Amino acid sequence: MAAMKTLVVDHPLVAHKLTTLRDVRTDSPTFRRLADELVTLLAYEATRDVRVTEATVDTPVAPAHGVRLARPAPLVVPILRAGLGMLDGMTRLLPTAEVGFLGMIRDEGTLKAQTYATRLPEDLSGRQCYVLDPMLATGGTLAAAIELLFARGAEDVTAICLLAAPEGLAYMEKVFAGSEAPVRVVTAALDERLNELGYIVPGLGDAGDRLYGVV
Ligand code: URA
Repeated sequence: MAAMKTLVVDHPLVAHKLTTLRDVRTDSPTFRRLADELVTLLAYEATRDVRVTEATVDTPVAPAHGVRLARPAPLVVPILRAGLGMLDGMTRLLPTAEVGFLGMIRDEGTLKAQTYATRLPEDLSGRQCYVLDPMLATGGTLAAAIELLFARGAEDVTAICLLAAPEGLAYMEKVFAGSEAPVRVVTAALDERLNELGYIVPGLGDAGDRLYGVV
């Protein structure tokens, strides 16, 4: 049985970008650019186990043995709305990945996740999936998204989150404790806690609002 694994990426560039991202004075255009750059750095770590197959190419001098990304291509799944702000940063590193979309919203009263849009291949057998969700807060949305991918046959799922709360990670660990398929969470920081409104403390506020403005 594969327990959930969490990686908090410890790198000065990640910490530097995250600090500016958190700053309440950072405007939306800067926030979008920094989120994009940060995701690319996290994606580098998150794709450490991406499947490859051996390949040989001819250099101008001699044959060279190397690798190429295996088929079927990885599937990247941003969770709308805020996950969209992470998509370009991810596909820059994995340009051949396919992209599916999941629209999920959490009820601010119950903090439970509801799915309002699904645009994913029906059959995900053998697919490695990368879910993009900036804030792992209660874990409800992310766990529901990953369960949906496993229900369609996904082989393993790696979630990339800008920030995580201990409560969210504990919930995910509980949900996926008995999962046969591997689940990994890669994040730039593990914050202190959730507040009574379900916000990560100190966090960065509402990621969707900071990316795209208040709705
Ligand atoms: N979602 C956000 O955008 N921010 C939080 O702090 C928690 C959930």
